[in-house]
Amino acid sequence: MRHLPALLFLCLAPLSAQTVPEANYDESKVGSYTLPDPLTLASGKPVADAADWNRLRRPEILRLFEDQVFGRTVAPAGKPLFEVTEAAGKALDGKATRRQVTIWLTGRKPGPKLDLILYLPASAASPVPVFVGLGFRPNASVSSDPAVPLASDWTRDPNDKTSYVKAPSPESVRGSAAARWQLDKIIAAGFGLAHANYQDIEPDFAGALKDSVRQAYLRPGQTQPAANEWGAIGAWSWGLSRIVDYLATDKSVDSSKLALIGHSRLGKTALWAGAQDTRFAIVISNDSGEGGAALARRNYGETLFRINTAFPHWFCANYKAYNQAVDKLPVDAHMLIALIAPRPVYVASAEEDKWADPRGEFLSAVSAGRVYSLLGKKGLGTDQMPPIHQPIMNTIGYHIRAGKHDVTAYDWDQYIKFARMHFSR
Ligand code: GCU
Repeated sequence: MRHLPALLFLCLAPLSAQTVPEANYDESKVGSYTLPDPLTLASGKPVADAADWNRLRRPEILRLFEDQVFGRTVAPAGKPLFEVTEAAGKALDGKATRRQVTIWLTGRKPGPKLDLILYLPASAASPVPVFVGLGFRPNASVSSDPAVPLASDWTRDPNDKTSYVKAPSPESVRGSAAARWQLDKIIAAGFGLAHANYQDIEPDFAGALKDSVRQAYLRPGQTQPAANEWGAIGAWSWGLSRIVDYLATDKSVDSSKLALIGHSRLGKTALWAGAQDTRFAIVISNDSGEGGAALARRNYGETLFRINTAFPHWFCANYKAYNQAVDKLPVDAHMLIALIAPRPVYVASAEEDKWADPRGEFLSAVSAGRVYSLLGKKGLGTDQMPPIHQPIMNTIGYHIRAGKHDVTAYDWDQYIKFARMHFSR
């Protein structure tokens, strides 16, 4: 009986305080694990050919990711409404044309909206391929372009760290993400760039449902999405598809050549968006880590338990059932990558980004290769991790570069090369 209060405390204390183990950075402590087989049907039958994959196994895996990981994404209620607020501004000393479009996400105004910025090479004589990405900050952060309005953004409330507020962005936001977007390089290579701030779709805070597009899709009487319905990553992915809806209407854009790129949590988002929406012709995951390209079953860096604890709003509620039972998860990151097949996919890691588990990112790309082979495409063609700065570029691409968790000019050089190779430009 003496122990009862302590026991009670343990039961009531948040799970996180109790049991989330420290991150492991020792390769010898990773242990052994068995990955679910992407080429065996739930019934136990093998996937014999491309028809089996497309008709049976791919839908099965997609459904598992929907129900157990990211949550089901709702179909849009109607067509989004596009409002071109600037058709053709001059940017980059005349080298680029700037277009700004407000996308009213549910087709109604007022309602949830995102502001898209599109930079296109001014010299293009025909529709251009476009890199598409969500960023962490408003559109003015992409370059030092003085003509982009400083939109408001969501931040932690400085007076109350547990809540968040939408506040006007300071001038210091302008160009603050320029190194991550490398606009000059992209334009010089003949590509366009379409960018929006992910927080336009859903602010990145637990409890931000009321300010999310997800709120607009709750059924009458529903106050939260169901346990198998979308979390924030699902919402951000859905927003990316609405951007494609717009790009498909823009005559300056070759919408058969859209290369989706995302970094970190937005790399997870890019993989999920690319898995669901086949209009993305190429998908690039930059340092996406846990819940993205890194194998969840590897006990290295961030774990499933940690991510669900620190970011409870990212995944669907069902995903939490695997916090301490990752071996029971019916999928893993290799299957998320395989959902993109046969389209080209690129996974990138950074040497010092141990939290994202570079080796786990590489190994999932290796294992996805079996599905690519079945569909007549070449995966990485090796299970040996390449040295730093030696990219592999087949239908699956991979590199690990020196340095930290970030998107750099080196990363962009590879993505442009990969996109050129697959779009034959
Ligand atoms: C955190 C989180 C990662 C995520 C990263 C980011 O580090 O644990 O999973 O990828 O933020 O988005 O920058």
